Amino acid sequence: MVQTTFWALKKHFEGFPKLSDFELKEAELPALNNGDVLLESVFLSVDPYMRPYSKLRMKEGDVMIGSQVARVVESKDPAYPVGTFVVAAAGWITRFVSRGKDLQRMTPDWPKELPRSLALGTIGMPGLTAYFGLFEVCKIKAGDTVLINSAAGAVGSVAGQIAKLAGCEVVGCAGSDAKVAFLKNLGFDAAFNYKTVGSLAEALKKASPNGYDCFFDNVGGEFSSVVLEQMKKYGRIAVCGAISLYNDQEIQKGPYVQLLMIRNELRMEGFLVTQWENRKEEGLKALLKWVMEGKIKWEEYVTEGFKNMPAAFLGMLKGDNTGKAIIKV
Ligand SMILES: NC(=O)c1ccc[n+]([C@@H]2O[C@H](COP(=O)([O-])OP(=O)(O)OC[C@H]3O[C@@H](n4cnc5c(N)ncnc54)[C@H](OP(=O)(O)O)[C@@H]3O)[C@@H](O)[C@H]2O)c1
Repeated sequence: MVQTTFWALKKHFEGFPKLSDFELKEAELPALNNGDVLLESVFLSVDPYMRPYSKLRMKEGDVMIGSQVARVVESKDPAYPVGTFVVAAAGWITRFVSRGKDLQRMTPDWPKELPRSLALGTIGMPGLTAYFGLFEVCKIKAGDTVLINSAAGAVGSVAGQIAKLAGCEVVGCAGSDAKVAFLKNLGFDAAFNYKTVGSLAEALKKASPNGYDCFFDNVGGEFSSVVLEQMKKYGRIAVCGAISLYNDQEIQKGPYVQLLMIRNELRMEGFLVTQWENRKEEGLKALLKWVMEGKIKWEEYVTEGFKNMPAAFLGMLKGDNTGKAIIKV
């Protein structure tokens, strides 16, 4: 019998998650039937969506939702020989059995110089979110001024670099001076620390006195209300995430958006990256190519040890990470 270890959601989060909301558990996996494969997680991902989605999709006691890069260690499916690497969505678990259908095989010619963890970040779901959010929702074009918040994170850092590749002026905001330096190093035209600027409105004005054509919004809430006033005529807002609201226990009321939206004829569109599931290959190919050409730089914030997953999750929500937050088992 093969043992597995997993993190269960012990108690639904109330406000900011706590370490005591999680419980480390062990279980025995069933013997493999024909068509089954046994996989071992190599890298796991902690992502902001886990906070709101835990409420929507999980009950207490369930394995925490999430995805991993995993390796086939035993196989009764010739399509997945031992040693095959896949991206799976098996949750916070060290070993698991799959029937193959829910696995996304990693390309066998994955470049040796790239860590496979990038399949959870720059060349994975967050990279695709940046790619489709910019091209399909913001509809960026050369010369646009693009604003990105949470810009030093997994999605934001890729979004800023793609927008630069597309010929845009890019402004980024992040929560520390070290992150701001990181953004400038990535080629952002302007960047500032939203926690220390005093007036967000003034900092936005200084970074782009004529306003913004596109706003790739990862944060939501009050931040977004301030930005709305500085959108140019026909501006496009891609509502990607709202991390500033995920821990709220009561729905907040902000300024109403209608007058500004009408006056400047703005377009605001929420999206989920899964909308472009049928174009995933296109996006991953483009991201891999840009990474290999050195046009997109990647950064990871790696936590060692499966036992540290809850702490890594809390740390990511607080802003510990520059680039993608990853757990190395
Ligand atoms: N629509 C989709 O399909 C889709 C897919 C993936 C991700 N998303 C969303 O995109 C956003 C970024 O995700 P990610 O994976 O790239 O995460 P990330 O940016 O790598 O990590 C989260 C970051 O959020 C920032 N943050 C936390 N609380 C904040 C607050 N109150 N105000 C401003 N910033 C705050 C922190 O950075 P600072 O130090 O800068 O504060 C933290 O590092 C999230 O909102 C996520 O839900 C959406």
